[in-house]
Amino acid sequence: MLFPLTTRTNEQNHLEIGGCDVVELAREYGTPLYIYDDLHLHQRVAEIRDAFKSRWPNSLILYATKAYYSPYLARIYNNAGIGIDVTSEGEMEIAHRAGLSPDKIYLHGNNKTPAEIRTALAMGVNHVIVDNLDEIELLAKIATELNVTPRVLLRLAPAIDPHTHRYMATGIAESKFGLSMASGDAMQAAHRVAQLAPRLELVGLHVHIGSQVFELEPYRDAITALTDFAQELNSTMGFELQELDLGGGWGVAYTDEQETLTADMVAETIITAVKSQVSNLHASRPISNLKLLFEPGRALIAQSAIAVYTVGSIKEIRGVKTYVAVDGGMGDNVRPALYSAKYTARVANRMNDAPMQQVAIAGRYCEQGDILIDDVALPHVATGDLIVIPVAGAYQIPMSSNYNLIPRPAVIAVRDGKARVIRRRETIDDMLKCDES
Ligand code: LLP
Repeated sequence: MLFPLTTRTNEQNHLEIGGCDVVELAREYGTPLYIYDDLHLHQRVAEIRDAFKSRWPNSLILYATKAYYSPYLARIYNNAGIGIDVTSEGEMEIAHRAGLSPDKIYLHGNNKTPAEIRTALAMGVNHVIVDNLDEIELLAKIATELNVTPRVLLRLAPAIDPHTHRYMATGIAESKFGLSMASGDAMQAAHRVAQLAPRLELVGLHVHIGSQVFELEPYRDAITALTDFAQELNSTMGFELQELDLGGGWGVAYTDEQETLTADMVAETIITAVKSQVSNLHASRPISNLKLLFEPGRALIAQSAIAVYTVGSIKEIRGVKTYVAVDGGMGDNVRPALYSAKYTARVANRMNDAPMQQVAIAGRYCEQGDILIDDVALPHVATGDLIVIPVAGAYQIPMSSNYNLIPRPAVIAVRDGKARVIRRRETIDDMLKCDES
């Protein structure tokens, strides 16, 4: 099922989510419109959290906020007791305002600025995932200025291919992320951080092999690579692994041909691999003290939302293709243009009508590549109909742009027949407010 949990078709043949008729929501809030299923979000975070906690009590889920973050989401995830992975001052600020304890915030980034590091440390964030050798010196300098002792995890690039789009393979040898294990940078970084003790405290290792990963074998390989490395550090410098962060990347289905990795499947595979690997590690403390961290983004949120568009022009190029053009596109969802990402669609006001034609869903932006879906079977569609695209919850709004000076969509959340705006539609004034004449 690609649609959110509370989805159904009502007596009007309309799509309904959270007890709200999507046709009425579109009328009230306009389109393009992003609709999040509040119950789905709550259930999914509990499911993922519990899948890991039940197998490894000392585990913490860190939501990868880049997938989409807002005060509304911060509240849900804080109440669920999970932490976050952040890469910017903006993401930190949302968490801070929502009252998240700084010890649940892990700072990421392959080129953290001095300002970001300073803000994080001053805020009380005490876990920094170090990406490169230069960062170690910068971090030590700022930590000295602020008289704090950050706990450091080293992000490793173990040269593991997760078989995903090449823009999302982040643990391979040529990745811009992490410390290469093969080149010796990883080992050098460990020694350098240890040398800077007690100003920096080396506590753990991190890996994020990539995103939209559907195979579990690369995760097992990454666990072996990291625990072997921890073992080597243990014998050469007495290092004891306190925290092991295995990143995110768990694949989510966007079309019926794909299958979302279940939380139980991922947790069982990963925890089994960790247990078999870590049993020989660090003799001086019980293994259950090892803190395991996971950083899912998409898996927590992608399937909780749909995007709704209104059909404008319909262009039939006889014998070639039919374009159904909608009022959104690459401005609110750049993923098809950027990664050739595949989606599917339905017509919200004709849910049970049989598919009659193959069409392409074209966006409204001035790019030939602005095609949301190349080929999808739809019932007869007419101008004014509502196209809905499921699995719209991750990496769409946060990667949106004002290309062609078009305002970004509104975002609403629905539950029990009530809708509320969690991000109002942008206005032309919003877009222009940074420009000087
Ligand atoms: N941890 C780190 C260090 C990451 O860089 C990412 C994603 C995650 C966790 C979460 O990955 P997830 O569980 O969401 O797959 N814009 C692309 C995805 C890029 C992911 C970037 N890093 C997309 O639209 O598919």
